[in-house]
Amino acid sequence: MRKLIIGGNWKMNLGSPADAKNMIKKLMILVKKISSVDIIVAPPFTVLESMVNMAKKSNIKIGAQNMYFEEKGAFTGEVSPTFLKSLGVEYVILGHSERRDIFKESDDLVNKKLKKAISMQLSPIVCIGEHLDERENGKTKEIIFNQIENTFKDLQKEDIIKSVIAYEPIWAIGTGKTATPEQAEEIHSYIRETLMKKYDKETADLVRIQYGGSIKPTNAEDLFKQKNIDGGLVGGASLQADSLFEIIKAADKISNN
Ligand code: PGA
Repeated sequence: MRKLIIGGNWKMNLGSPADAKNMIKKLMILVKKISSVDIIVAPPFTVLESMVNMAKKSNIKIGAQNMYFEEKGAFTGEVSPTFLKSLGVEYVILGHSERRDIFKESDDLVNKKLKKAISMQLSPIVCIGEHLDERENGKTKEIIFNQIENTFKDLQKEDIIKSVIAYEPIWAIGTGKTATPEQAEEIHSYIRETLMKKYDKETADLVRIQYGGSIKPTNAEDLFKQKNIDGGLVGGASLQADSLFEIIKAADKISNN
């Protein structure tokens, strides 16, 4: 069985020390007894160090929202994986649709970052997903297939199992429009099938695939119940300790069933 994994992606929120500390303190108390679910919080860079230090004695692991694929040099504004490692950051979100759409990150760039993250023992959460027009034109599976081919290019079995994939239909992100559990499961099982063809069944069965896009306490359980949905990447609802905790509890309930 794959352990469910819930990630809170704070995006460009809670980046001042006071706000971040306040949030993580509350969350640490709430999730104290949860052991059946991996819990990740990805705050802005400005508070990574303090979040790593505060969460050290808790069951929360800290992730970055992005990184560059070079370790140092003339890359103004970028953050090196070496810096993240030196802080004790364990996870890194790569290829989020906001990075792809707003900052024009390509599959090729995400692939370079992914290989670097794995080589540095940072656990990557790699995002893929289709736009609304692509879904409406029946192109979802084609888009997903190409994203897997290009983003995971040259990745060996032992590398892919270290990655978490987040399927995030872009039309569901921050819109309040969640994919139905059936819509999500259809694509999650397609992703697993694609991994099976690319690698093998054993490898495909090991990779955790999170759903992301308007997860809320009210829809979390039905999504996580699906056979191929191994938890979620949560944006908006991760900004409040209470709502993130409700989502984590939904995953915990399913894990303990
Ligand atoms: P959302 O964001 O939960 O606010 O839709 C999810 C994400 O972008 O990871």
